[in-house]
Amino acid sequence: MTLVSLAQATYVVAAVLFILSLAGLSQQETARRGNILGMVGMVLALAATVVLALDSSERSALTTALLIACVFAIGAGVGVWRARTVEMTQMPELIAMLHSFVGLAAVLVGFNSHLTEEADAVHQVEVFLGVLIGAVTFTGSIVAYLKLSAKMKSKPLTLPGRNWLNLGAIVVSAVLLAVYIATGSIVPLVIMTVIALALGFHLVAAIGGGDMPVVVSMLNSYSGWAAAAAGLMLSNDLLIVTGALVGSSGAILSYLMCKAMNRSFISVILGGFGAEGGTSSAAGEQGEHREVKAPEVAAMLEAAGRVIIVPGYGMAVAKAQYPVADMVAMLRHHGVEVRFGVHPVAGRLPGHMNVLLAEAKVPYDIVLEMDEINDDFAETDVVLVIGANDVVNPSAMEDPGSPLAGMPVLEVWNAKQCIVFKRSMATGYAGVQNPLFFRENSAMLFGDAKAQVEEILTALRVSEGASA
Ligand code: TAP
Repeated sequence: MTLVSLAQATYVVAAVLFILSLAGLSQQETARRGNILGMVGMVLALAATVVLALDSSERSALTTALLIACVFAIGAGVGVWRARTVEMTQMPELIAMLHSFVGLAAVLVGFNSHLTEEADAVHQVEVFLGVLIGAVTFTGSIVAYLKLSAKMKSKPLTLPGRNWLNLGAIVVSAVLLAVYIATGSIVPLVIMTVIALALGFHLVAAIGGGDMPVVVSMLNSYSGWAAAAAGLMLSNDLLIVTGALVGSSGAILSYLMCKAMNRSFISVILGGFGAEGGTSSAAGEQGEHREVKAPEVAAMLEAAGRVIIVPGYGMAVAKAQYPVADMVAMLRHHGVEVRFGVHPVAGRLPGHMNVLLAEAKVPYDIVLEMDEINDDFAETDVVLVIGANDVVNPSAMEDPGSPLAGMPVLEVWNAKQCIVFKRSMATGYAGVQNPLFFRENSAMLFGDAKAQVEEILTALRVSEGASA
């Protein structure tokens, strides 16, 4: 067996490992194994790619090896630095940024292919589509990055006739494809690239607030298709397979998130197609709110039979998951039934809360999804809403003008008591006031979530010591 055929066989093994990796990532219990399989697959893929590059390069083996080593050093250096410094709460924006690189790579590969290769019509279509998808992914991901890192307003951009603008861009691109195939000139390719860059910007700028999670997974899907297109242009089978895996799993995730949030898949893909920018009647404060202090909450918890904790983005910011896990262990030890209710878009990335709770060693079996727990609030004594806001906002169900309208939420107000941990009366990610805070059975526990939970823990320990 030659080295080249061994490298090609390694590609097949790597592709299988990527599939097993995705299967592992579908469940918390197997996610770690899924990650390891993916990493092993990537090491094999890189090794095989280097072998194939050395074999096919027109330069000397030494020059090619040096070039590859330089690229590796830069990529690995930046990757290791970002992975070590990124905060968990900055993950979505980092992912958006990485998607933009995939898009840019597809555009560059496309232009390189046009300039350096003799192309038949099929290859021209590959180049054209690769550049189109890459350019849309590039600017779309940059807008997502800016919105997620709050460098740009998350409010949707609603240009008049925006759906026609998108449709027009697609029709003009189709015409340019025909011209490109007929003439082989770079001009239609360049014009389409400019249009696709504008389209990517517009598609994502038109989506706002609570719908951003779907955009992140949708761009994940686009970046997969951009990689697959680059694979076609480079005749690299593994890149085609990997791109298709990322593209289709991203599309499935987007579909599931749309279903969970009661949004139309098509409307989100097409950039807020048909979404009307409603005005909320829930703006501003809505009456008096009640405040409690940590020792009072500790007393409520001691007297409770059933408790549900709803975590949100604020728990991640405060890194409160560790004292929360200690508090849960203590309450369970005293016979209180404690469970978690996790909304599909709580936090800032899919599965954010599950990851944090797993990190703090909260048992998986008490962490339930929204659908599994929503009917149980009525029989619950105390709900602790720890740094969550949009995902417990009743206006999503009660106010058709709210930007959150139609999104299912955790119905925490049905419990006997609801304690909301946050630092102020500020709104959540979608910028909508939350009528929950003004309900009779709600009370606010102001302050950093971690400090407040630690204070509750101290009070529980003091009372345990006194009764021992
Ligand atoms: P949010 O609506 O963002 O609310 C978080 C709350 O946490 C804020 O109201 C904030 O209030 C509070 N908070 C922040 N830091 C805190 C701290 N140190 N201690 C205590 N409280 C703190 O969170 P959510 O309910 O989890 O909803 C998620 C939102 O993000 C949804 O709108 C969702 O669509 C969007 N989103 C989700 C994703 C994914 S994939 N999950 C991606 C992008 C966007 P104070 O400032 O008053 O403390």
